[in-house]
Amino acid sequence: MSKLKKALERAKETRKAESGAFKRSEPEKQITPLAPPETNKKQPSREKVKPTYKRSRVIEIDQASLKKDKIISLFLQDQTADQIRILRTQILERLKESGGNSILISSANPGEGKTITAINLAISIAHEINRTTLLVDADLRKPFIHKYLGFEAEKGLSQYLTGDLDLADLLINPGIDKLTVLPGGRPLPNSTELLGAPRMQSLVKELKSRYSDRYIVYDTPSILTRADPIVFSHNVDGIVLVIEAERTSNKDLQRTMELLKDKPVLGTLFNKARSV
Ligand SMILES: Nc1ncnc2c1ncn2[C@@H]1O[C@H](COP(=O)(O)OP(=O)(O)OP(=O)(O)O)[C@@H](O)[C@H]1O
Ligand SMILES: [Mg+2]
Repeated sequence: MSKLKKALERAKETRKAESGAFKRSEPEKQITPLAPPETNKKQPSREKVKPTYKRSRVIEIDQASLKKDKIISLFLQDQTADQIRILRTQILERLKESGGNSILISSANPGEGKTITAINLAISIAHEINRTTLLVDADLRKPFIHKYLGFEAEKGLSQYLTGDLDLADLLINPGIDKLTVLPGGRPLPNSTELLGAPRMQSLVKELKSRYSDRYIVYDTPSILTRADPIVFSHNVDGIVLVIEAERTSNKDLQRTMELLKDKPVLGTLFNKARSV
């Protein structure tokens, strides 16, 4: 049995032992809902569509490097994993109310933990509540998801947007049940234009309708340095803002919230907080 499989088995056992109870360490302080959910959207039909993994490349990820990089959703006792679970519960509730299935992760500034949060959230939805999840690396300038998960991605979303590759040939199954990854591929300088281009719009539509029973998590660049997340935000049902403890300033947070005004912010994650 692979290391990852063993970790998953162990995690399952632990979950059983905890009877699904979350260990909530100061949840109110760590996650603050910022905006009411949209309530006027229609519930989409949730017909069962089987995800097509047949052509996805299956890779095996290394558990030790995951933990080193703070990919903690698989390590259920970790305190940060609790925050991810609470965030997950909160945003899935809100998406349920609005009938949505797609989530954009961003932050005010670079390096505040967007990619790690996107990966953790996607793993948490797929692995712990058993819902099929597609994790899309839409940070086309700094596509890092594959690096954190420890695999090479020569091809990905950037090649899909600039060429005529088939989506099914780009999807990766990183050895975690129910989780599929669309890596970013080679970095691109003109990512904003591409994310707003018709090919991206039709991809988003296709993902949303073809896989209406699955959640889609998009990792994006930071809001104050790139236009990408705001341009792309029209395509998603909800936004999660990562705030770095002791780093994101009030001023930056205010400017960010101003840019997100009228957007469906589902919640925030207070990241890298020192435990007390
Ligand atoms: N909760 C955490 N605890 C400790 N370190 C963390 C945490 N979250 C992220 N990091 C570390 O912070 C660094 C930046 O994380 P990450 O790449 O997720 O940020 P980002 O916002 O996606 O950055 P970029 O803007 O460059 O895309 C990484 O070294 C990561 O391991
Ligand atoms: Mg990132």
